[in-house]
Amino acid sequence: MTNDTSRAHIGVVGLAVMGSNIARNFARHGHVVAVYNRSPEKTRALLAEHGDEGEFRPAETIEEFVASLERPRRALIMVQAGPATDAVIGQLADAMEPGDIIIDGGNSLYTDTIRREREIRARGLHFVGAGISGGEEGALNGPAIMPGGTAEAYASLGPLLESVSAHVDGTPCCAHIGADGAGHFVKMVHNGIEYADMQVIGEAYQLLRDAAGLEPAEIAGIFREWNTGDLDSYLVEITAEVLAQTDAATGRPLVDVILDAAGQKGTGRWTAKAALDLGIPVTGIGEAVFARALSSALDQRAAARELPAGRLGEAPADRDAFVEQVRRALYASKIVAYSQGFDEINAGAAEYGWDIDRGALATIWRGGCIIRARFLDRIKDAYDRDPALPALLLDDYFRAQVADCLDAWREVVVTATRLGIPTPVFASTLAYYDGLRAERLPAALIQGQRDYFGAHTYRRVDREGSFHTLWGDDRSEVEA
Ligand code: 6PG
Repeated sequence: MTNDTSRAHIGVVGLAVMGSNIARNFARHGHVVAVYNRSPEKTRALLAEHGDEGEFRPAETIEEFVASLERPRRALIMVQAGPATDAVIGQLADAMEPGDIIIDGGNSLYTDTIRREREIRARGLHFVGAGISGGEEGALNGPAIMPGGTAEAYASLGPLLESVSAHVDGTPCCAHIGADGAGHFVKMVHNGIEYADMQVIGEAYQLLRDAAGLEPAEIAGIFREWNTGDLDSYLVEITAEVLAQTDAATGRPLVDVILDAAGQKGTGRWTAKAALDLGIPVTGIGEAVFARALSSALDQRAAARELPAGRLGEAPADRDAFVEQVRRALYASKIVAYSQGFDEINAGAAEYGWDIDRGALATIWRGGCIIRARFLDRIKDAYDRDPALPALLLDDYFRAQVADCLDAWREVVVTATRLGIPTPVFASTLAYYDGLRAERLPAALIQGQRDYFGAHTYRRVDREGSFHTLWGDDRSEVEA
């Protein structure tokens, strides 16, 4: 650190690991970085341990922090999403001037971001809600960054964020997503897809463990092998690492000593709730959220342990063939989950008036973020071929990929059912696929039932209009 008094290009408020790491990332890329933390010890620790990594401007008050920023000032908030975010926003807004930019880099709920953007814009400042994905390692070495806000704010902020984001083929994993809450909305859906991705990996693991009788170390090898093909992804890669890990205390596989109760900070839940409101069947994401909730219902599960399993089937005779079937089921379920996630993004963009480019989004998700995967290149290609693609599943490439997996996928869901192994996302994504392609659905009967008990009317297949049957009278049909 020098005694250079040049003002900082950007500032970071909140120096827990994520905040410290992204501040270091900016400094390592040659940017002068202002840093502030409510408790100054963290600021001092950052300078003591990493002050030689670049130009930092430590501050012990928000006012000193703001004064150290060049105009237009850019302040990135990296604090726990919630009330703390509002508190820091208020402090910064009081100290900043029209044209300055406040960025919330936390996992904030997009509706909060829409509100905050409106409030801060009314004060003449810019507010950017930026989803930042990649965890602590990503913050330091290159996350995927999904900023939402005005184009003017991005013109000033974008080059800085792009310089510190991950890059794939020289392309930054950062792009302007859209107005106000668009960035946090797509980050939320990213996390929902992450939940589904992790759940289908978990279901594949459980099948290889319980149906194929393989040990974690053997399954780790299978995931490593899968990671060289279509399933090449960060989550498959780390799955192999977790399954290969031995617990030092017991000598057992670590996965066997971890309590099987999944936590969730809430972003996957938000994705499912938003989808319900938007009317988008994100069945894979929803089942993944419910699977985490079920896993955590430890008392209820203990009480249910003795529930009868019924007559169970036989384990697959050809283990290698079964392993390949599971790989295909995993890949097909993943494609459906991503297709559903992109449908939700499309619906959110329509609802909130965002102009979200799904191809550009797939492009920035190729690196840095938790769901980074080779097949995001294929998703980018699909939306490049047709930006208005009605569903990812209908793209020729993915249509063929799923067709190639379909028989195996059905076999795996049947085998899991016969063996009493829960595969909620394998099964719900297959049911969704069959529902999407079905010529007739039982919704016709549901409409009849609704009309019977609630006179809610129904439409006919053979003519326009709404109709009601006089169920309590002569059962003749009348036009509603
Ligand atoms: C990311 C991650 C991150 C999230 C963790 C924990 O994109 O870097 O998604 O934002 O906080 O994954 O989330 P859960 O506790 O909800 O699993």
